[in-house]
Amino acid sequence: MGQLIDGIAVASHVKSNVRKAVDELKSQGVNPCLATILVGDDRASATYVNNKQKAAAEVGIATRDYRPPSSFKQEELVELVKLLNSDPSVHGILVQLPLPSHIDEFAVINTLNPMKDVDGLTPFNSGMLVNGKAFLKPCTPSGIIELLDFYSIDVAGMDAVIVNRSNLVGKPLAFLLLQRNATVTVCHSMTKSLTEKLRTADLIVTAVGNRQKFTLTGDMVKDGAVVIDVATTRHMDKLTGDADLSVRQKASWVTPVPGGVGPMTIAMLLKNTVTAASISKGMTE
Ligand code: GUN
Repeated sequence: MGQLIDGIAVASHVKSNVRKAVDELKSQGVNPCLATILVGDDRASATYVNNKQKAAAEVGIATRDYRPPSSFKQEELVELVKLLNSDPSVHGILVQLPLPSHIDEFAVINTLNPMKDVDGLTPFNSGMLVNGKAFLKPCTPSGIIELLDFYSIDVAGMDAVIVNRSNLVGKPLAFLLLQRNATVTVCHSMTKSLTEKLRTADLIVTAVGNRQKFTLTGDMVKDGAVVIDVATTRHMDKLTGDADLSVRQKASWVTPVPGGVGPMTIAMLLKNTVTAASISKGMTE
């Protein structure tokens, strides 16, 4: 039976360090501030942003909360981002994704000041990540690395299979795992023989979020594999990830949903906000 990776406990450890760093910054006259922008009224996105706002307040980070309607034009969003870029009292800017389909996400992300890009999505920060030099990394991948480190799971030499190729999760995680000497395969909806690839993996990271399309079951998992389940979806009226409970019979370590990766994403956002506030003062480690 696999051991559970406790994302709530690790996130609370990260948050207590963030709280100390926030106090330190405040004693030096910097009041860390995170601005979030949510365009439209997607319910899941609103829940995520509410949770981010609440978590920031809990560690003493000031927040701005922008919620323009779904009719908001791309030019208006770009203007708002530029306004926040040039506001010295704002240290971190988060544009919640996905954006309504009439808005070009890249155009908006590319407007962000990379020093305030607490999602680590700008071309500058993703380029730094590829070079192993990023100071602001995407929150979910860096949260996964934090979990692996906390439990001393060394991925060097492991065959890692990631089922996700997004800019938020799969692509940046591939580089972070590669940097730690894993051999990485990035899979997606067009991947051939996915089950065969999964069966040979030492580490599986799955982030699909649609049980009809994909469910990770015990028979797809090698004995002793580490399974990180990033997805949050509703299945048979319950909040769950991609992994079926049968996975726990095979895995050595597994993240639960809820209570695994989710809390880490938020904790790393707060950590990035403190890093961004430190950058503003020229205090990067
Ligand atoms: N949508 C889902 N996850 C995320 C995230 O980590 N950051 C942003 N900006 N949008 C998201």
